[in-house]
Amino acid sequence: MGAPRLQGVRAVVTGASRGVGRAVAERFVAEGAHVVVTARAEHRLESFLRDARGPGARPAAMALELGEPHSVAAAARAAVLELGRVDVLVNNAGVLGSRLPLEDVPDGELEAVVAANLVGTLRFTQAILPAMSDGAAIINVSSGAAGRAGWAGYGITKAAMDAATRMLREELAPRGIRCVALNPGGTRTAMRAAAYPSEDPATVPHPRSVVGPFVAIAEGADPGWHVEAREWTP
Ligand SMILES: NC(=O)c1ccc[n+]([C@@H]2O[C@H](COP(=O)([O-])OP(=O)(O)OC[C@H]3O[C@@H](n4cnc5c(N)ncnc54)[C@H](OP(=O)(O)O)[C@@H]3O)[C@@H](O)[C@H]2O)c1
Repeated sequence: MGAPRLQGVRAVVTGASRGVGRAVAERFVAEGAHVVVTARAEHRLESFLRDARGPGARPAAMALELGEPHSVAAAARAAVLELGRVDVLVNNAGVLGSRLPLEDVPDGELEAVVAANLVGTLRFTQAILPAMSDGAAIINVSSGAAGRAGWAGYGITKAAMDAATRMLREELAPRGIRCVALNPGGTRTAMRAAAYPSEDPATVPHPRSVVGPFVAIAEGADPGWHVEAREWTP
């Protein structure tokens, strides 16, 4: 690897215990960023903390349950205390729920998925915003399933977060804060395996293959409000 691209950058990556979030956070650390990572329990991040290597400050782990307002507030406070300011927020954590049409979704599931993927993610963003630097970036991890039939709460929350990205992009333009919805596309993770149980995971790209646009945006690129990782050209 050449010179670190994110030296001095302070970043928060949610849902970094595995999958896309972990690959993004590992690469951010490798590029010299000071990174706070979250998962529902800090112990889920132990292997990340053990394996992450980079020339910058040591990463820190925070517990965050997006469905719990107190946890959201406490994790945001702790992240800001650790970093001092936030240059990049990657809202990656999310839950899938059932792949069903709305009329078949079990009682309580819609509420839980909306609480984590939409309300919790927006409340976390709101709590981090005062600490965000001018010119910072918010990357909301989107999905091709946004608004897609048969994806119930998940698809609804992803479509709503796409709308929130456009809204925030306009609201935060005076501070030069770039808000981008980034769709990683089909990626070999636990969530993908749950969504496509009969698929051979070996046929799906590894999470490390989608980190390019995350790094470029963290570095200062602005691809517009929405970008597909598969179509990204550096
Ligand atoms: N994989 C794909 O093909 C694909 C395609 C399009 C979009 N995406 C999006 O990419 C993002 C990452 O997905 P992934 O495939 O990497 O999923 P994943 O492997 O299931 O990882 C999800 C991450 O989110 C965390 N998380 C789950 N529920 C949470 C909650 N209630 N509060 C806080 N953290 C929570 C998990 O932490 P714990 O350790 O606490 O469980 C984990 O670190 C998601 O936003 C997903 O919608 C994925």
